[in-house]
Amino acid sequence: MAEFRLPVNSRITTGKTWPKPAGATNLRQFDIYRWNPDGGKNPCVDTYFVDMDNCGPMILDALIKIKNEIDPTLTFRRSCREGICGSCAMNIDGINTLACIYGMDEVKDGTVVKVYPLPHMPVVKDLIPDLTHFYAQHASIMPWLETKTNRPQKEWKQSIGDRKKLDGLYECVMCACCSTSCPSYWWNSDKYLGPAALLHAYRWIIDSRDEATGERLDELEDPFKLYRCHTIMNCTKTCPKGLNPAKAIAEIKRMQVNRVV
Ligand code: SF4
Ligand code: F3S
Ligand code: FES
Repeated sequence: MAEFRLPVNSRITTGKTWPKPAGATNLRQFDIYRWNPDGGKNPCVDTYFVDMDNCGPMILDALIKIKNEIDPTLTFRRSCREGICGSCAMNIDGINTLACIYGMDEVKDGTVVKVYPLPHMPVVKDLIPDLTHFYAQHASIMPWLETKTNRPQKEWKQSIGDRKKLDGLYECVMCACCSTSCPSYWWNSDKYLGPAALLHAYRWIIDSRDEATGERLDELEDPFKLYRCHTIMNCTKTCPKGLNPAKAIAEIKRMQVNRVV
């Protein structure tokens, strides 16, 4: 999708200020990143005003209201509107998060709400990042149960204790908020897997039913894939699901060390 990449050295300019809704007294200003691959212009920031007395409580509610009532060309992803699908990830007031579970009241009162696409990613259009490479990295860690013994008649069993080890990992919705907040990923995403893919790698490494633990660790024993994590911790700070990818990465590193000793 190289043709959709944000032009190198492009400057973000001031865009259009849309009219305020007539008769509304409780307005909130939204400054939103716009870029259209077909327009041949630099990206810009458009300004919209939303009537807060007639709007739902989440940032996604305001974006949908803008699209429905003010500017139908505003483009963003969303599906579940309850933090499950991961598709509405974007940068809101400098924080990578999910627009559907980020409340209007979490943005400081009286301030302009600034909405940008996830940082350091190619942009497809407006608030939509190109996640092709991110998904390919996820696929590369073999995100499935790998077994060698014969398939059991009914199911692969797991003790309650072993199942508990997956808590804090299986809840990941692959929103990419963590990876796109990581400076190591910004500069080396061609070779560094990033926190999201590594959290998933760990989820399968510690699954008691999986029989490819050695191969999985071998695959990650690489100066870039795993060790480009420098414990910066932005990933854990920003995860909208409250997960801890930094801890998962540290656990993989610990397992690598223990294998060598
Ligand atoms: Fe999103 Fe959190 Fe999963 Fe990262 S770990 S992809 S921030 S849900
Ligand atoms: Fe990046 Fe998180 Fe490691 S922010 S450097 S992946 S601890
Ligand atoms: Fe599904 Fe926001 S719309 S996570």
